Amino acid sequence: MHNLASNASAESAPFRSRPALVTELAPVVRRAQLVDVLQLAALVNGFAADQLLLPRSTEQVALALDNYVVAVDAGGRVLACASLDEYSPSIAEVASVAVDRGFQGLGLGTQVVAAAEQIARQRGFEQVFAMSLAERFFSSMGYAVVALADYPEKLARYESLVAGGVAIVPKRCFAKTIAE
Ligand SMILES: CC(C)(COP(=O)(O)OP(=O)(O)OC[C@H]1O[C@@H](n2cnc3c(N)ncnc32)[C@H](O)[C@@H]1OP(=O)(O)O)[C@@H](O)C(=O)NCCC(=O)NCCS
Repeated sequence: MHNLASNASAESAPFRSRPALVTELAPVVRRAQLVDVLQLAALVNGFAADQLLLPRSTEQVALALDNYVVAVDAGGRVLACASLDEYSPSIAEVASVAVDRGFQGLGLGTQVVAAAEQIARQRGFEQVFAMSLAERFFSSMGYAVVALADYPEKLARYESLVAGGVAIVPKRCFAKTIAE
């Protein structure tokens, strides 16, 4: 478990431990706002450059802002994000899951994915899936490995991206039932 509420004091500790850093940052997980768009796209595209995520333009993010959640620090800096992409009335993809490289391993990824799942529940989706190389991360959140063939529309979207010149690295498909 992540100790986000650690009370280890920066003065007394020999090092500024990462949980203490998170306490200082006081990250808030909330729905994305217009003010987040540039940072959000930059965060996602930083990982798209490594082909870990699909690229997103600022226009794409702005148009789908309702689908994004962010973790921001007290100064409004976007530390992490995730989005929800509808596939069918019952299935949505948890996509664009990204945590600033300086703040990974602190539980922020878990928090933004949980927030995206909460939106999925509120919107009536029964299942979410994600495409990723981060198997341990999605397993820790209760996702199971499934066949990409179960999501023909995702395959079709990949094919159209490849036809448009976007490089797609093979990833695993993870799914989770979220219906209450
Ligand atoms: C994957 C990622 C979102 C995880 O976010 P994070 O805030 O570092 O993760 P958390 O601190 O919430 O960790 C939760 C669990 O996932 C594991 N984990 C963290 N990063 C991981 C990674 N890159 N690969 C596999 N497992 C990972 C942790 O060990 C932790 O497990 P534990 O609780 O058993 O120790 C983050 O590393 C990231 O932004 N990666 C680059 C983009 C990416 O690959 N996104 C996923 C595709 S949608």
